[in-house]
Amino acid sequence: GGSYGFPGLKGQKGAKGDTCDNGTKGDKGDRGDPGEPGAGGEQGDKGEKGDTGEKGEGGTKGEKGSKGDMGPGGPKGEPGAKGGRGAPGRKGSRGAKGARGDVPKAPRSAFSAGLSRPFPPPNVPIRFDRVWFDERRDYDPATGKFNCSVAGAYVFSYHVTVRGRPARLSLVASSRRVAKARDTLYGQDIDQASFLTILKLRVGDQVWLEVGKDWNGLYAGAEDDSVFTGFLLYPDVLITSDFDKNARV
Ligand SMILES: *[C@@H]1O[C@H](CO)[C@@H](O)[C@H](O)[C@H]1NC(C)=O
Ligand SMILES: *[C@@H]1O[C@H](CO)[C@@H](O)[C@H](O)[C@H]1NC(C)=O
Repeated sequence: GGSYGFPGLKGQKGAKGDTCDNGTKGDKGDRGDPGEPGAGGEQGDKGEKGDTGEKGEGGTKGEKGSKGDMGPGGPKGEPGAKGGRGAPGRKGSRGAKGARGDVPKAPRSAFSAGLSRPFPPPNVPIRFDRVWFDERRDYDPATGKFNCSVAGAYVFSYHVTVRGRPARLSLVASSRRVAKARDTLYGQDIDQASFLTILKLRVGDQVWLEVGKDWNGLYAGAEDDSVFTGFLLYPDVLITSDFDKNARV
């Protein structure tokens, strides 16, 4: 037999290798695919109660609404029972003495008027234009007509001078001849004719005198008058003092 030899000696350290250069940096890799969505997290804990907010300000008052329509009237109630008779009152004390009352004034109406020129035109009211009295102006000298403003009984009369021609005179009341009279006279003779009557008149009735055609011998001159007169004899109703307040004087 042989035996095992001893291990050899350790070899000498080798010479240092050449330094090698670093390779160039590679290009950036492509972006990776998105990952899978993660699993949902667990429910969070309940939050704490918030603080109470401040009280809001009151709103402004609204405008008043328009008035509603009137409702239908209710049914008429039943009449109440008649009350009992009250006890008589006491006698009042005596009043102060009253003022002196008005004296009732009788209504008035009167006129008298004369002719200023002879021989008036026929068949129209004769204008007696010289007024002697006409307090209420019921007689109008511009028309020759009397216009009744107080109903009642009236006296009408005429006293005329007739000269040189015959005269036929008519008293006309409300377009109706109520009286006629004639006087036949020729030449320079002078005569008087007169007439008087009572007529019942209503307010607005009109009265006048007319002469006929060729019968208009009414004369008026310095010595001779021809006059038409009328006046209220009595009224239909007695009128109080209010009447004269409205009278034209
Ligand atoms: C090479 O790589 C080494 C180790 O990372 C580094 O220390 C050295 O500076 C590099 N040399 C060059 C020329 O980049
Ligand atoms: C007559 O008198 C009445 C009453 O005063 C009056 O209403 C009327 O108008 C008068 N008529 C004339 C024509 O003057």
